[in-house]
Amino acid sequence: MKYSLGAAALILQSSVVLARSLVPVHIFAPSVDHFRDIVRNDTFDFGCRPIAHPTGDGAYRLHALLTEDQIEHLNNEYKSTDGISIRRDPVRRAVAATAPIGTGDRFKNGTVTPVGLGTQSSGSKIPAIMNVNEIPSAVQALARTYGVTKFDLPYKTFKGATQFAAYVGAGADKSKYHLYFSAGMHARERGGPDQLIYWISDLLSAQKSGTGLTYGRKTYSNEQVNAVLNAGIVFFPLVNPDGVAYDQSSGSLWRKNRNTKSGSSGNSVGVDINRNFDFMWDFKKYFDPGEAPASSSPSSETFKGTAPASESETKNHVSMYDSFPNLRWFLDIHSAAGDMLYSWGDDDDQTTTATMNFMNSKYDRQRGVTGDTVYKEYIPAQDLTNIRSVSDNTVAAMKAVGGRSYSSGQSVGLYPTSGASDDYAFSRFWAVPGANKVYGFTMEFGYSTNFYPTLTEFNQNILDTNAGFMDFSLTAIGVGLE
Ligand SMILES: *[C@@H]1O[C@H](CO)[C@@H](O)[C@H](O)[C@H]1NC(C)=O
Ligand SMILES: *[C@@H]1O[C@H](CO)[C@@H](O)[C@H](O)[C@H]1NC(C)=O
Ligand SMILES: [Zn+2]
Repeated sequence: MKYSLGAAALILQSSVVLARSLVPVHIFAPSVDHFRDIVRNDTFDFGCRPIAHPTGDGAYRLHALLTEDQIEHLNNEYKSTDGISIRRDPVRRAVAATAPIGTGDRFKNGTVTPVGLGTQSSGSKIPAIMNVNEIPSAVQALARTYGVTKFDLPYKTFKGATQFAAYVGAGADKSKYHLYFSAGMHARERGGPDQLIYWISDLLSAQKSGTGLTYGRKTYSNEQVNAVLNAGIVFFPLVNPDGVAYDQSSGSLWRKNRNTKSGSSGNSVGVDINRNFDFMWDFKKYFDPGEAPASSSPSSETFKGTAPASESETKNHVSMYDSFPNLRWFLDIHSAAGDMLYSWGDDDDQTTTATMNFMNSKYDRQRGVTGDTVYKEYIPAQDLTNIRSVSDNTVAAMKAVGGRSYSSGQSVGLYPTSGASDDYAFSRFWAVPGANKVYGFTMEFGYSTNFYPTLTEFNQNILDTNAGFMDFSLTAIGVGLE
């Protein structure tokens, strides 16, 4: 199915944003405990997942996207409370300054090959974000030019779109593929599909011409390019086409898919695909009653859906583990926080008590409170060493590009999530008989709550993430693919 994205839809963008009026705010507090009640209220939008960053002067900053009513509610609620303050994001920018969405099809129905930034001269710019129809066209062009294999996935989206993924680098034997990347799960997180597609294009172009790649101040040799391709790359660049089509035509900062089964108007439309995976999906059963790792309310941005993997997009995402049984490293590309996150996302990690784990019902209704000793999620010590080294090297590469800073940390941070793609990937080894061990990660490129980057930021994000994907893959290869 094709989406029509006419010029009229693009003009609508600015007025629709004003109508919904989500204001990026920073909430400051002297300790992370101060944020707990705010974070547990599932009517607020904390971006991809709630993350509190230290401010450098002993305090913490939590980012959110709030309506004026919500700002007023919080101001009243915390008026006299010990140091909580809510400030509008000073770098909030005019909608007109965000990078344009491409019009038409720059890849001419799969006949014009995308060219990434790693194979172009320094300072080159990609002029627009791919529209929802350009994404499959660009991948089709990679198939035509370089022999990437593009294939349709089994489940159609709620709006009837056929989903696709692709693989390249390790020949026809699907058991030789060990790296899995996905993007475009949260519709508004613009640029993720582009980063992935331009990176694959760079790898293939460099392989073909026997050269290396350059991302800002970071360079990679032709041997490294070949090593990454030989590891076998599977990619699913547009997990949420219905949501992306809607976001690109409305400019409404849309996050979820467009399923209307649980609600047919406004924010009640859609399921958060990244809370729909079969990992402690029924959070009320598994988590401390005070935690809100997802939401059962259709109007929430973190609505978990009606059953584990109820959504076609989730089912298609999971089908990749069956099609490629030896995947070992999975990276889900999100924004916007400037973080690289590793397992687990439901509670603090611990390496000593194997029986304290997500499958043990003894710990039901106790999970998700960070900083306590009642429950911490088990991870074998060697696995923790492995994933930390990959995460740390990924952010080191992203910083070395020269644009900005990133941080690496456990995905639970201060607040738990349930049903997320990264935890699901890692949990399969224990929960699904015969499943390979998959290390799951989430990358959050971009500045806090800045889902619509400027053109300069969009290009910097491509450089940063592509260097990150290189070191992610190279470190993974070093740790082991089998
Ligand atoms: C959550 O926030 C909303 C405002 O968005 C407010 O009306 C509601 O009372 C809050 N819920 C709780 C439990 O504090
Ligand atoms: C686009 O390309 C496909 C093959 O990749 C072809 O089947 C289809 O007819 C083309 N569509 C148009 C409008 O040219
Ligand atoms: Zn996200």
